[in-house]
Amino acid sequence: MLVGPGDDAGVHLIAGQAVVETVDVITPVVNDPFTFGAISATNSMSDVYAMGGWPLTALAVAGFPSCDYEPIVLKEIIRGAVAALKRAGAVLIGGHSFEDNEIKFGLSVTGIVDKDNILRVGGAVAGDVLILTKPLGIGILTTALKGGKLSDADISHAVKWMLTLNEAAAVVAVGAGATACTDVTGFGLLGHALNMVIGTDLDFVIYNDRVPVLERVNEMIDAGMVPEGAYHNLRYLDGKVEFPAGFTEEHKLLLSDPQTSGGLLIAVKSDGVSVFEKSSVFFTVIGKVEKGSGKVNVA
Ligand code: CO
Ligand code: CO
Repeated sequence: MLVGPGDDAGVHLIAGQAVVETVDVITPVVNDPFTFGAISATNSMSDVYAMGGWPLTALAVAGFPSCDYEPIVLKEIIRGAVAALKRAGAVLIGGHSFEDNEIKFGLSVTGIVDKDNILRVGGAVAGDVLILTKPLGIGILTTALKGGKLSDADISHAVKWMLTLNEAAAVVAVGAGATACTDVTGFGLLGHALNMVIGTDLDFVIYNDRVPVLERVNEMIDAGMVPEGAYHNLRYLDGKVEFPAGFTEEHKLLLSDPQTSGGLLIAVKSDGVSVFEKSSVFFTVIGKVEKGSGKVNVA
């Protein structure tokens, strides 16, 4: 075993090849079943990319209330997942569905990774910069969709990001010599940043004003469309993340917003930034790594 539980995915050496395995299952974040299937598949594959690997095969895991929905709904979800896998060069080879009281869908994904270029969650070095490859606010916008404050069309920009594979970002991260990497998902930016630094003699500094945020997110925070998960995340961060004086609750919640199919958070030496600049991957330098005590400091 090269990487065990606690990272984005497990990595096992099988016949000399480093094999990456992960599973993730989510509830619907959009109304259209095909789009939901594609988003869920993209989200599930993200943990393979977060290891610097690439997906090859997948098994579907589906909870389905067959009394409430026609079978075509599950078929469309799977068709969406297959389309996303195809874009990634991966194939669905089976799966399992079970009766449930709400729709749940995800994939168990198997991929491979170059064993000398595994992107672990730990490994950042003082002096590295921190790069984020998708804007924040996906959880807030999908909560606003569920709450009837926004339409499917209103969140199409968020859907585009959720459907964006972290493939290109991972390739650039490996090429740039990234020292550590994770994907920003349920624990929000701050939770995943803390996960990369906790227990080390380093601190992560995050420059709040550099963090990219999706359109309409601040408006939806003001409208109360903050997912329960953001409050949970923020409570967990208490004492482990330092905020500047006067930093508002709204900003704290945004930095704690759970993301579905969020971007990669990458630590890389500062000269690695030029590799991102030469690529077509969206990225923002949002912080730096310095000597410390295993905390995240928002500046
Ligand atoms: Co992950
Ligand atoms: Co995961």
